Formats: sequence, structure tokens, C-alpha cells
Amino acid sequence: MLNKIVTQPQGVRRAFVKSFGCQMNVYDSQRMADIAESEGYAPTDDVNAADLVILNTCHIREHAVEKVFSELGRLRELKEARRAEGLKTTIVVAGCVAQAEGAEIVRRQSAVDLVVGPQAYHRLPKLLSQAERESVVDTDFPVEDKFDSLPAARPETLKSRGASAFVTVQEGCDKFCTFCVVPYTRGAESSRAPEKVLAELERLAAAGVVEATLIGQNVNAYRGAGRDGQTATLAELLARAARIDALKRLRYQTSHPIDMGADLIAAHRDNEKLAPYLHLPAQSGSDRILKAMNRRHAACDYLDVIADARRARPDLAISSDFIVGFPGETEEDFAATLELARRVAYASAYVFKYSPRPGTPAEKREDQIDEDVKAARHAVLQGELDAQRLTFNRQTVGKTFEVLFDREGRRKGQALGRSPYMQSVHLDAEEDVAGRMMRVEIVAAGPNSLHGRPAP
Ligand code: 5AD
Ligand code: SF4
Repeated sequence: MLNKIVTQPQGVRRAFVKSFGCQMNVYDSQRMADIAESEGYAPTDDVNAADLVILNTCHIREHAVEKVFSELGRLRELKEARRAEGLKTTIVVAGCVAQAEGAEIVRRQSAVDLVVGPQAYHRLPKLLSQAERESVVDTDFPVEDKFDSLPAARPETLKSRGASAFVTVQEGCDKFCTFCVVPYTRGAESSRAPEKVLAELERLAAAGVVEATLIGQNVNAYRGAGRDGQTATLAELLARAARIDALKRLRYQTSHPIDMGADLIAAHRDNEKLAPYLHLPAQSGSDRILKAMNRRHAACDYLDVIADARRARPDLAISSDFIVGFPGETEEDFAATLELARRVAYASAYVFKYSPRPGTPAEKREDQIDEDVKAARHAVLQGELDAQRLTFNRQTVGKTFEVLFDREGRRKGQALGRSPYMQSVHLDAEEDVAGRMMRVEIVAAGPNSLHGRPAP
């Protein structure tokens, strides 16, 4: 990091934003970059050239706090080296670690100028000027609507971010799963007004975005109060988004099984732009553990939702998150999780070892599971899910579907895109396909990606 300090032509200030964790943070990071830009900071990918450094942190699993402090240690050295050159560096810690740790961050690392939580970052302009004089901590949950106070990104900035975009439509969580810090760091569930989401989607579409993912911690709990006095569900919001011509594909993430309403399931049949993909975290297949996790459903309820969704859209790809080694998890509980995974046959899934989070009910339990048991269960479940993913990928060989090429391939002349089922697709392309949706025939499949050729 410290290899080279880059001095700018006079007057040009630059901002570097590093995002950790989930898609919500990716979105927030972009919005903070937009604020920085409106405050006169051009974006940079080079931390050594940055007058403003923002770390947008994640607190969902272990070591998050320590990772942030070691990053801050390096930034302190950079700040000092730049100061010796007569350059000022402002260091901001944002995101969920900022929310959880607050003033403790400045106490432990005095190089930090500003700590700002995920609900308060729209106040950055004011906070940055305050931080000129003293270090500032803002972890409020303000009453004003954060999204109303955010500057719109410049169309050129939107274009540079590619053909696929995230839009936050819902934030926070009221579910209080006993392992999870989100209800504490992100606060109560709240939804943006449908008109505001649609206006943002229109802006993105005008800038060349063809795929939008509506995101929220509990996105299917979306209830957006409309101007007409009605409350829109996620299915209704998706139906209205589908009317934006230039948007070709819609996605949503992350959903809770108990909020999978009948209309959202029907949207998988009726909304032609909705991708045949459902990320539905199961966490565990054991009713005992699901209860201890406060997931508010049994394994059979989860399987029922999957069966309904598959009836609505037979080619639906399902993905999930699992936690192994939750306090008190027995071999029998773990076997139930494996059994559930086998019954669903996932397109892909993440497995996490349970990690005690400060302030959560499960952290206080005395029946914590040994790390080596967690590791062994993680390996077994991950092995099963890896095999399922390969099987799923192989089933797409010979099929033709629309692939969105939103990324550069690793080799020259090779494009990298995403299938409707979220698989990475490589294509040997003679022409520039970046930002385009193209019909591709799949000719080969590996565990992590597919290979295709242009279809007639
Ligand atoms: N330990 C392990 N995994 C967790 N997750 C959330 N909290 C924890 C925790 N304390 C996982 C869940 C969730 C995903 C985003 O992170 O599986 O769905
Ligand atoms: Fe966390 Fe559960 Fe809320 Fe998801 S639903 S954010 S796992 S508390």
C-alpha cells in the first residue's frame, strides 16, 4: 500500500472507497462515492492518491473488527507519509463496524477523522467539514430519509459502473435471528417509496443499465408507501420496474422464507423480466436449530416454499446460505441440514461456520461448538453443495439463453457474462460485447463457470 505517494495537480482531490461485505455495502459505497464526487473528490482506485479514504465495513462474521484495525494501521502510515509531503488525508470508517464500535474506533486509532454509520452517511458533507476541526462520530438513526438527501450520480459515473446495478429498496431487519448482528447495526425494517425506486431505475436505465437487482436485508418484506396511499409489495414493485423498456432483467435479494408471499411466487411465473433465480437462505435443516435461531419456520415450510416457487417457474435456480456449528448443533441436527440440501438440489450455496457476534443471544449460550467440529461439518456440507453446483452447471450444457456481458474476461478476446441463473459464462468474442445481452449456447461446464458460443 505504501509503495508510492501520488501527488495530484493542484486543486484536484480524490476519494478512494473500499467496500467489505454484502451488496448493500456495495450500493452504499457507490452512494458515498457520489457524495464525495459532489463535494469535489474525483474517484480513484489508488489509495496512495487519495485525499479522502472511506472504509465501508462489514460486521456479519468474525475478525471483522480486527481486519478493520489492521487496515487502519496501514492507513495511518500512509497518512503520515503523505503529511510529510504536505498532503492531507481524511480517513473515514463507515458501515456496520462503525455502527457497532462507534467512538471506540477513534479511541483505538487516532488517525481516523470520522466514524459514520450506515443510516447517517447522507450527512457526509457536513460531517467532513466538521472533521476538519476534530474527530467526529455519527452513529444516529436519523428521522430524515437518507435516500432523499443523497446526490444523484453523474450519468458518466453510472456508465462507468457497468450494465448491471444494485438498488437498495429496503433496509434493516425486524426478524432478530439469534446469531445475527444486522437488526442492531442496520436498525428496523424500512422501505423506500416505489416512485423513488422507479425514478432511480429510470436514471440507471438511461445510463445503459440493463439488469437491476433490488436489494435489501429482507427485501421480500418490502412494503413501500406509494403516493396514492397504497402500499406496494415487492412483486408490485418488480411489475412496475418491468415496464421500464431498457431494463431487460430484474433480480432481488435477500429473502426470508416467511416473507415469500404468494404474489412474489406468482411473479416468477408472470414477470417475464424476473430472472429464474431465488436466493433463499435456509441456515439449517433441523427444526430444533431453526427454532433456536428464531427463524420462525420449520424445515418443511422452507421446502413448501421451494416447491411452490418451482411450480411457478420450473427452471428456477435456488441458492442458499447455511450456518454450521450453531450452539447446541448435534450430529443429528447437522444430518438434517445435509438432508434438506439434498432434497432441494441447489444451484449454488454459501456455508458459514457459526461465529459468535457481540450482543446477540446465541453468543451468550454455553453450548458453543468446537472449532474443529465446525470445520468438519463445513467441509462435508460444502462438498455436497459443490457437487450440486457442478451437476446444475452441467445440466445447462446444450441450452441457449441470454447472457449479460457486464465484465471483462481474463484473457484478451474473451468476454465474461452472467447467465439468468447467475452462472459465470465465458465467451470467445471477436466483437466487443461489453454491456450487452446476447444469446449464447452453452458448450461446456465446470464447477465455477460455463463456456459458450454465440447462438444464431
Ligand atoms: N455466523 C455465521 N454466519 C452468519 N451469517 C449471519 N450471521 C452469522 C454468524 N453470526 C450468515 C447467514 C446469513 C449470511 C449473510 O451470513 O448465513 O444469511
Ligand atoms: Fe440477520 Fe435473520 Fe435479519 Fe437475515 S433475517 S438480516 S439473518 S436477523
